[in-house]
Amino acid sequence: MLKELQGKTAVITGAGSGFGLEVARIGARHGMNLVLVDVQADALERARTELEAAGAAVLAQRVDVSSAEAMDDLAEAVQQRFGAPHFVFNNAGVAAGGLVWENTVADWQWVLGVNLWGVVHGVRAFTPRMLAASQADPAYRGHIVNTASMAGLLTPPNMGVYNVSKHAVVALTETLYQDLHLVSDQIGASVLCPYFVPTGISQSERNRPGELATGQPTQSQLIGQAMSDKAVSSGKVTAAEVAQKVFDAMAADAFYIYSHPKALGNVQTRMSAIVAGQNPPDPFAERPDVGVQLRAALRGA
Ligand SMILES: NC(=O)c1ccc[n+]([C@@H]2O[C@H](COP(=O)([O-])OP(=O)(O)OC[C@H]3O[C@@H](n4cnc5c(N)ncnc54)[C@H](O)[C@@H]3O)[C@@H](O)[C@H]2O)c1
Repeated sequence: MLKELQGKTAVITGAGSGFGLEVARIGARHGMNLVLVDVQADALERARTELEAAGAAVLAQRVDVSSAEAMDDLAEAVQQRFGAPHFVFNNAGVAAGGLVWENTVADWQWVLGVNLWGVVHGVRAFTPRMLAASQADPAYRGHIVNTASMAGLLTPPNMGVYNVSKHAVVALTETLYQDLHLVSDQIGASVLCPYFVPTGISQSERNRPGELATGQPTQSQLIGQAMSDKAVSSGKVTAAEVAQKVFDAMAADAFYIYSHPKALGNVQTRMSAIVAGQNPPDPFAERPDVGVQLRAALRGA
């Protein structure tokens, strides 16, 4: 349960855009020290300038979260500047779509590298320092929030790499929650599962490293990109509203953070089928027209 934020330290990955930037803005309003982490230098610099102008003490670090060494160095730099953090938001993420057998090894390495290994490194590098702080000070409170997705609770077609990365983040974070409870009452964990929210996520390719580049996108990847552009840009809930839910969840020690609780019917349907031993349900049950269009496009009709 993290409620008192004034003078406390937040580490935010993916802080240059979207949810990360909005969480940083709220942190600044609450008087938190901010460690802003992003791989995109210009976005990171803009965030640093804005948040320093808002009065926050800022440490901005250009880090690729998929790098174990860079994340270890980051944790050390945070420790030197502010001591152990109180809030770690492992949020940086990228998306790639397409039929699951068409994704290249580079696609898997890039998406799992950022979305899964980035969270693994954040948990690995910061949790021991937070535990040490909690042992040294009974008043210390900390919270780790990992960003997954509704794609961590569902298996929408034509985006398998992303689904796998986000299911792994849900599993990692549920286990983190359980493991923390074995050893401490002072540090909590939550998982953020947004549905479609307008951010830069559908332009993730802007940050794909050159060594993980792939050739021309396949037909299924082009279709997936167009569908994701449309779904993300037409989302009605804002990134700022989702960021506020992150702080509300930390204060209430709530584990699952949903941007669109009404979309949970799909999760219920999936879970019921699993328990009943039924085959995976139609993912387009609520929007049959979308399924008809997608099948027609993929079959070249
Ligand atoms: N927007 C949505 O609809 C949605 C839905 C579900 C989950 N999510 C998740 O939310 C998280 C935040 O994404 P967003 O929607 O705010 O998108 P965004 O693109 O606006 O922000 C993501 C940030 O992560 C940074 N980033 C990318 N690769 C990185 C790397 N290797 N190291 C460090 N930083 C890196 C980007 O530069 C960017 O600033 C992601 O994990 C994403 O998968 C988003």
